[in-house]
Formats: sequence, C-alpha cells, structure tokens
Amino acid sequence: MIDHSNIPKVAFDEMNMVHNEEATLLNTLEELLKNSPNDHEAIANCLHEIIEHTRGHFGNEERLMREVGFPALVMHEGEHIRVFNEMQRIISGWLSTKNNELLHEYFLGSMQEWLYTHITTMDTITAQFICMCKGC
Ligand SMILES: [Fe+2]
Ligand SMILES: [Fe+2]
Repeated sequence: MIDHSNIPKVAFDEMNMVHNEEATLLNTLEELLKNSPNDHEAIANCLHEIIEHTRGHFGNEERLMREVGFPALVMHEGEHIRVFNEMQRIISGWLSTKNNELLHEYFLGSMQEWLYTHITTMDTITAQFICMCKGC
C-alpha cells in the first residue's frame, strides 16, 4: 500500500493532487488483488481507471511543459510514452491470461518504484520550472 504521506511533493501543487489520485487507484488495485483476486470484472474496471487516469496525468504535465516552453520536454514526454506503452502491454497480457502475478509484479512493484523516482527527478524539475514561469 502506498502511504500518501510518503509521496514526494513537487512545487506545483496541481501535480501533487494528480499523484495522490494515482496512488489511490494503485492502492485500490492492491486491495482487489488481495481480497477479490477472481473478480475479473472489478480488476478490469480498475485497470481501465488506472490507464485513463495515467493518460490524463501525463497529458496534463505535457500540456503544462508546452505552455512554459520547458527545455527538457522531449525527454520527459518520452519517458511518459515509454511507461504508458509498458502499462498497456501489461494490461493486454493480463486480459489474455488473467494472471494476477503480472499485475502484482508491475503495478505493485516496478511501476510504483518508477513513479517514485520519476516524481523525485523529472516531475520535480518540471514543477520548479513551471513555478518559475507561472508563479506558485
Ligand atoms: Fe507526474
Ligand atoms: Fe511526469
């Protein structure tokens, strides 16, 4: 379970809200995998919510970076694209196999580690730049 108080905070608060929502969805998935591992419909709905939320999360950061002309936009956006594609691959794998271990390993493991690192690096620098341009 992600403890919301452990999520690194960035300077632009709107981004923190979105990160908190993402963590809540990942915690919901963890609960489902633990308490209702055979409820494929509920798990599929949760995965759908996660992917749509991530689309909005990444899309919003990319819009903000464009608005302020963030110099490392291409690098940050490239990382979003890579991870979004990876998420889609894992979900397709689960949809065809219903192997919950795939979801455990990725969404409760490497993806959460990535999210933490991403927030403390690219998102942190991006938020500082946005604040410099827009004011916070
Ligand atoms: Fe982010
Ligand atoms: Fe990001």
